[in-house]
Amino acid sequence: MIFDKTQTVREIAIHHPATVRVFENFGIDYCCGGKRPLEEACEKANVPVGKVMQQLAELDATSVPAGEQSWTEAPLALLTAHIVNRHHRYVRAEAPRVEALLQKVVSKHGEAHPELKAIQETFVALSQELFAHMMKEEHVLFPFLENMEQAARTGGPRPVGCFESVEFPIARMLADHDDAGALTAKIRALSGGYQAPESACPSYRGLYHSLEEFEHDLHRHVHLENNILFPRAVEMEQSLVEGSHAGQGSTARR
Ligand SMILES: [Fe+2]
Ligand SMILES: [Fe+2]
Repeated sequence: MIFDKTQTVREIAIHHPATVRVFENFGIDYCCGGKRPLEEACEKANVPVGKVMQQLAELDATSVPAGEQSWTEAPLALLTAHIVNRHHRYVRAEAPRVEALLQKVVSKHGEAHPELKAIQETFVALSQELFAHMMKEEHVLFPFLENMEQAARTGGPRPVGCFESVEFPIARMLADHDDAGALTAKIRALSGGYQAPESACPSYRGLYHSLEEFEHDLHRHVHLENNILFPRAVEMEQSLVEGSHAGQGSTARR
């Protein structure tokens, strides 16, 4: 796959899901900071753009990571179900397990490695923020998107929500994502890029591995919402509103 370094990282990740692995390997932000052109994103991650482009070029143009699919055309309801079943479920199962592991590692090694306590506090804050955030998506935003899609399919009006436009709850979700991104970046920095010390015990190493996996899953999760679900929802709302205005116009002319 040949890409142009002026293309945004977000655009590349949306249309070629296999590229996400390359971005992860190089620590390139493709979700919250995905609007940067590839060249600028590489600069920010401190990696040579030529090397990244070479790895991108080696990917199979049609390959999609196992268990993934391209979400640019699928119904929104399928995408929201995928997000809940794959990513929200993962957070709900994994966060308590990581917290228990953190407690164990902090109690054994916290004195010699004070950064572990800071990682623990940051992870607990991240976990609390994510649980509250997922409830908002599952109980307010996602059901509204499903109703909106139903209206678009049947030619009905935009459903009534507790907000004037879907852009308002989306703006709130985007801000939450930025906060979560800042917390994961802090954990990455505190752990030195998840590098456990030479002498670290298996629990310590397992903890850093789990934290890194948690970060990767969060990036994929936020990428699906920020770069695919939310822009598609805004577009769908606009076409529903335009459709109803056109309908009113033709009624008024009669
Ligand atoms: Fe989510
Ligand atoms: Fe979200």
